[in-house]
Amino acid sequence: MNLSRFGEKFSADAGILSLMDDLGNALAEGNMLMMGGGNPGHIPEVQSALRQRLQAICNDENEFQKLVGIYDPPQGDKNFLQALASLFQKECGWDVGPENICLTNGSQGSFFLLFNMLAGQFSNNTSKKILFPLAPEYIGYNDLGLTDNFFTAFRPRIDLIDDTLFKYRVDFDTLTITDEIAAICVSRPTNPTGNVLTDGEIDKLLDLAKRHDIPLIIDNAYGVPFPGIIYRDATPFWNENMIVCLSLSKFGLPAARTGIVIARPETISLLSGINAIINLAPGSFGAMVACDLVRTGEIIKLSQEIIQPFYKNKMHQAMDFVFKYFKGLPYRVHVPEGAMFLWLWFPELPVTSRELYKRLRKRNVLVVAGDYFFPGIQPGWSHMNDCIRITYSQDDKDVQKGLKIIADEVKTLYHKK
Ligand SMILES: Cc1ncc(COP(=O)(O)O)c(C=O)c1O
Repeated sequence: MNLSRFGEKFSADAGILSLMDDLGNALAEGNMLMMGGGNPGHIPEVQSALRQRLQAICNDENEFQKLVGIYDPPQGDKNFLQALASLFQKECGWDVGPENICLTNGSQGSFFLLFNMLAGQFSNNTSKKILFPLAPEYIGYNDLGLTDNFFTAFRPRIDLIDDTLFKYRVDFDTLTITDEIAAICVSRPTNPTGNVLTDGEIDKLLDLAKRHDIPLIIDNAYGVPFPGIIYRDATPFWNENMIVCLSLSKFGLPAARTGIVIARPETISLLSGINAIINLAPGSFGAMVACDLVRTGEIIKLSQEIIQPFYKNKMHQAMDFVFKYFKGLPYRVHVPEGAMFLWLWFPELPVTSRELYKRLRKRNVLVVAGDYFFPGIQPGWSHMNDCIRITYSQDDKDVQKGLKIIADEVKTLYHKK
């Protein structure tokens, strides 16, 4: 088949495609220790709240009809937008109304629309890029740009915290914003590292963005105010110079595909316009199932009292296993401050991270090779090949078995050196 540039772009070897494919295949194989993907854990209290809400909708003729039989406006379900605005005002002190919020079919889609709306080719034949001030960053950004050289990124400062922990920080000494930067983007907490950029770092990025008259995009997929998977203090920021993206996925509704964008009204009307053209309307399911939870504030209560402790507990267990099984090996782990991942660094690993991934897959452990997580970084930084990401959201016994096998494989590799 003769493909256009658009067609070619989406048939290329995309990291996110191989990750989602691999996840699907591994799940089908049945005996794999799943430490690769970003599926949230199945939390009984959250599922029960969602089930009750869904049952109530199904038992009400009008509500059910709205759930399955009516297109929402391109900006999203009006009741949900109003409930979200009130929640953000009350919980975060953000000065927002429904005109500041647009729904999308998942925040992956939000980033596709936002990135391509702001960066790429301009009508005056110039082009602009999205800047990640700190990589590693989320694998899912990698292939979202419709033009080439869409992203640029800076290496972080690496703070060694003790013998085993480290933390990436934005290196403000090297970070420079040129005229070709359209927007700055960070995930907070960061997928894959579990890093939470400090309030001070966000303040400085905001200041830079404001001075250059470009937006700061914050990807809050795991962040505050919901699902709140953060284990340290972190202020939920929003102002007119920011675009904040949230999602219902990590709250427990990944299948509903609901993304939430909070931005200036002009940005929101542009997004709604693109939504109308591409999708007619965002799906109603997530908005309807979550609306009462948002209106009553129950979503915050569940996030703080159930979801955050659930992941924090799993993180501590996973860290205990790391300390136990990796003892004596040359390894470091990023301080786990949020999200559902551990980022393991094996300095001067004798093979590439993809080779390590392959070896682990043969032993039925699924992880993600670290080199996928450096969108916009020029090749040639050996650190990119020394890291892997593991997910601790699934069964604790599997995480334990998986970490034991990873330690064993890494030990063999270093001994062969
Ligand atoms: C950092 C980050 N941003 C965005 C997404 C996309 O989430 P969704 O499209 O399910 O809302 C994910 C999914 O794992 C993520 O980890």
